[in-house]
Amino acid sequence: MTDTLSAAGGETAGVPEFPMPRAARCPFDPPPGLRSLQEEGPLARVRLWDGSTPWVVTRYAEQRALMADPRVSADITRPGYPAQAPMPKGSFASFILMDDPEHHRLRRMVQAPFTVKRVEEMRPAVQRIVDDLIDAVLAGPKPVDLVEAFALPVPSLVICELLGVPYDDHDFFQDNSKTVIRRDAAPEERAAAGARLNAYLDDLVGRKLAEPADDLLSRLTGRIEAGELSRAEAAQMGVLLLIAGHETTANMIALGTLALLRHPDQLALLRESDDPKLVAGAVEELLRYLNITHSGRRRVALEDIEISGQVIRAGEGMIMANDIANRDPEVFPGPDDLDLRRDAPRHVAFGFGVHQCLGQPLARMELQVVYSTLYRRIPTLSLATDLDRVPFKHDGQVYGVYELPVTW
Ligand code: HEM
Repeated sequence: MTDTLSAAGGETAGVPEFPMPRAARCPFDPPPGLRSLQEEGPLARVRLWDGSTPWVVTRYAEQRALMADPRVSADITRPGYPAQAPMPKGSFASFILMDDPEHHRLRRMVQAPFTVKRVEEMRPAVQRIVDDLIDAVLAGPKPVDLVEAFALPVPSLVICELLGVPYDDHDFFQDNSKTVIRRDAAPEERAAAGARLNAYLDDLVGRKLAEPADDLLSRLTGRIEAGELSRAEAAQMGVLLLIAGHETTANMIALGTLALLRHPDQLALLRESDDPKLVAGAVEELLRYLNITHSGRRRVALEDIEISGQVIRAGEGMIMANDIANRDPEVFPGPDDLDLRRDAPRHVAFGFGVHQCLGQPLARMELQVVYSTLYRRIPTLSLATDLDRVPFKHDGQVYGVYELPVTW
């Protein structure tokens, strides 16, 4: 490995393309190519869709150090930022792609409902949502697509209630969210979907300004009236929270269920235990093992940064491949085993540093309720198709399955 390659176009022969393909028979494991890079060292060059050659950071320790480093920027508008795909002009952006102090100014305006205490107050309501959806599944025909009947509605109902978005509009926002985070969609297609979501949220913010209710969007209108926030910023944050609030957790529910069905001994642990500690640990292990944000956290260096014998030059891009960091054998012995009794809360599935997932207490609680209820209420749950026929989201910024036919 050498630090003399230039992201702007040095000698790039032999630099592997990113993202790398997963092995066909191992849909839950990170790409074998990433494992090889990790074995060689903590940093390597990869080539992106635009020919640029940013660093990929594969080991846990280096990744956490860099994600907590103030010389590392998440600002997508900076030259050298390693974008996932072509960015159409006027694309939707929010504080996830900004640096402090702007990032902090906006994030703190929406953080109150996501604290552990506030999220715990929502647990009984989430339990009711989960129970009602399982009742409906059991009363309906089989096989059923678990994504549509259960995995998507749970987090969508919860985030709609929290934000003040009408759930009746779920087809609209779920379809558009799916397009926004598809890596292989045409840039114009993604931009159009983002613009539709933005217009929808802007309209909703307008309605909350006229008629506030007890929800997060209404509380943001107070900030608008106080001159602390623009209406456009409120709409953008609404889009971010709506997409992040349902897509990620839905994928964890469906992919997690598939992983458990493929590991019956582990599934039995969940089905047969009512110990909340075991369930909480199981959620952390599934987050680590599946790491659905498989595109990596994208960053760019603001200054020269020396790390583990390498120099990342100012303006060079970095991809924190958190999927392979979560399989770093130095930190997680036997990293490719799904072991629900493992103590894995230090995983980086929610990122690390100032951009660490705002919604993680909510995601954890929803997944705990789901994983502790679904397999106990439907103990004979099984896959109603061959694994080969399950459509995986290889093309998405968030990994998961498009459909999961199940029976019981
Ligand atoms: C299992 C589910 C989830 C996973 C795996 C996940 C993962 C992540 C990751 C890896 C980041 C860091 C991004 C970065 O560093 O570039 C992030 C940020 C974020 N997540 Fe989540 N997330 C989940 C659920 C949620 C939920 C339910 C919400 C609720 C609205 C949410 C809202 C956010 C927001 C707003 C950010 C940006 C934080 C910032 O930039 O300060 N996420 N998430």
